[in-house]
Amino acid sequence: MNFEIKYKDARGRLGILKTPHGNITTPALMPVIHPRKQTIQVQDHGAQLVITNAYLIYKNDDLRKTAIKKGVHELINFSGPVVTDSGSFQLSEYGDLQVSNEEIVKFQEKIGTDIGTSLDIPTPPGVKKEHAQKDLEITFQRAREALEVRNELMLNSVVQGSTYTDLRSKCAEVLGKMDFQVHPIGAVVPLMESYRYKELVEVVMASVTHLPDSRPRHLMGAGHPMIFALAVAMGCDLFDSAAYILYAEDDRLLMPNGTIKLENLHEMPCSCEVCTNYTPEQLRQMEKAERVQQIAKHNLLISFAEIRQIRQAIVQGNLWELVEQRCRSHPFLLEALRTLYNYSEDLEKYDPPYKKSAFFYSGPESLKRPEVYRHLKKLDGISQKKSVLLLPRTRKPYSEHLYGIPLPCYQIKGDEKLQNIPFDDLQVTVVDVPFGVIPLELDQVYPLAQNESPASFDENSLQMVNNVVQKYLKDFKTAFISADVVETFQLQKNYQLKEVHEIPEPLKIGVDDYQRIKMIADYQFGTGSGGALFNRDVDIVKSRKTGKIRHVYDDQELIATLRASDGVFVLAREGARRLHSFLPHPKKRVVVNQDAEPFAREGKSIFAKFVINCDIDIHAMEEVLITNDEDQLLAFGKSVLNGKEILNFNTGQAVKTRKGGF
Ligand code: GUN
Ligand code: ZN
Repeated sequence: MNFEIKYKDARGRLGILKTPHGNITTPALMPVIHPRKQTIQVQDHGAQLVITNAYLIYKNDDLRKTAIKKGVHELINFSGPVVTDSGSFQLSEYGDLQVSNEEIVKFQEKIGTDIGTSLDIPTPPGVKKEHAQKDLEITFQRAREALEVRNELMLNSVVQGSTYTDLRSKCAEVLGKMDFQVHPIGAVVPLMESYRYKELVEVVMASVTHLPDSRPRHLMGAGHPMIFALAVAMGCDLFDSAAYILYAEDDRLLMPNGTIKLENLHEMPCSCEVCTNYTPEQLRQMEKAERVQQIAKHNLLISFAEIRQIRQAIVQGNLWELVEQRCRSHPFLLEALRTLYNYSEDLEKYDPPYKKSAFFYSGPESLKRPEVYRHLKKLDGISQKKSVLLLPRTRKPYSEHLYGIPLPCYQIKGDEKLQNIPFDDLQVTVVDVPFGVIPLELDQVYPLAQNESPASFDENSLQMVNNVVQKYLKDFKTAFISADVVETFQLQKNYQLKEVHEIPEPLKIGVDDYQRIKMIADYQFGTGSGGALFNRDVDIVKSRKTGKIRHVYDDQELIATLRASDGVFVLAREGARRLHSFLPHPKKRVVVNQDAEPFAREGKSIFAKFVINCDIDIHAMEEVLITNDEDQLLAFGKSVLNGKEILNFNTGQAVKTRKGGF
């Protein structure tokens, strides 16, 4: 195995791919090198690796001889990793091919390719299903043959299946079980050329959800920077671009939000060296060959800049924000984004629950983000109280700004009078966009505190809040809603409103510290965890500077620390012990083999290859328990990957251990 994930966001990964000619950081863009016609030195513009076509080399006598004698790297004058395609694309464009699968695989190994490709059949959109199925059988058979004839060569195996999502999934599953190193997703060029991005999303998601997480995926023929962010958010790691030169030959400039024709340029569109050295007029006056060079250079520079921005977004945790921006470049991309958000259940498993960046609402689509889906799921059963009071949003954190809000309110459920309900028995909850309802105890937990949205709500938000409130109130016997909330979210149509006249004056609105830590733990680790971690006698220590809860002790022993940046608990040894006795196996467990046991006990980090089992529902960035296969607690730490990834990977870290010593 030669791929490792370092950072995650959405379904995207920032990873390291090891090849014989060096390691590369993904997501990465591979410029397509023409073995005969290449004039641009792509490494000067930031290429870490390139892709070229083994078939074009093979069928030209001079190129073939040179490649066999000196290797493909020298042939194309590139010292980094070189990926080769097999000629399948030529097959799909021109019909027949003068080489067998076995021959072209062996040839790629002979010329020293880093990652070769077998001769898959690219089945285009629009063919009959039986046709696509027949093609798949050939693709499978050639994949098996490729594995038999290669020695050391790393191999691509391309996912096909036309636009039939079940065939794509099946293909991904079959190929994923074989010993390939990279999985391209093929035959998507026709979809991209005709802006069929919605179908692109369906094809890619049908594929990635059935591919092993431990192998990089290459979206074949994707060279337009406009779709990189979306594709990375779906779990694609590699792109190849012939677009940089093809568009240049056509006098078109690539931009992350579309394409610009040189003839329409009044101002140069970016700050790359081409755009700062020339005016549009100067470019138009240039000789064709030189102009193509310059535009191709711009196209490459802007494409690499987009890839860098995506990698930055993954590390920073704002990839969804970037995707939502990019998908507003074209209505069909917006449609693709909406389609992607239909996969919330899958996306939620991959998207890390804690990020360095705040959640920025960018429009109604943001309501469908996995963070919102996750919150609404985790809300189920989070409050154990019988009465609830819904209040309008204020500045965040809400609990610090709720004094003095106007409190005319309505009773919409139950008969018990507001003034008769002890404050501690009243669940105070804020109504806001995009998270719907936020129990006051959770008002400092990520992302409920770390998000921004406009104060004027759009129709979709109103509708969403209506639905969420309705569902939330079902669990309560008695419910009050501030008049302000009723008016803002137009709730009057859903309820019989009974005005409350006797408002206890002043209504004490705040959060009890114990109830706060208990609910945060329930929200973070699952219902009941709060009670298991913290009994009534715990000592809650606050920061002298901020007044916020920092540590929770029981009789001098630290149980957990509330992390200031995202308001969730970091376990201490006693906390891990209590959680381990409370949560049934395999919840929150990462189980390591015997060899790794002593290292775990010493507090060393856990590598994926030592993991023999784990809770499939673990997310990346979560607090997890490290155990042996007798479920003895060895250590605890923070996951780097989700449960599925931990099981699938054989390289890299799975858990950053905090402490061992059990
Ligand atoms: N280049 C663009 N699409 C494809 C494909 O489906 N298969 C191969 N091998 N190369 C491609
Ligand atoms: Zn430029």
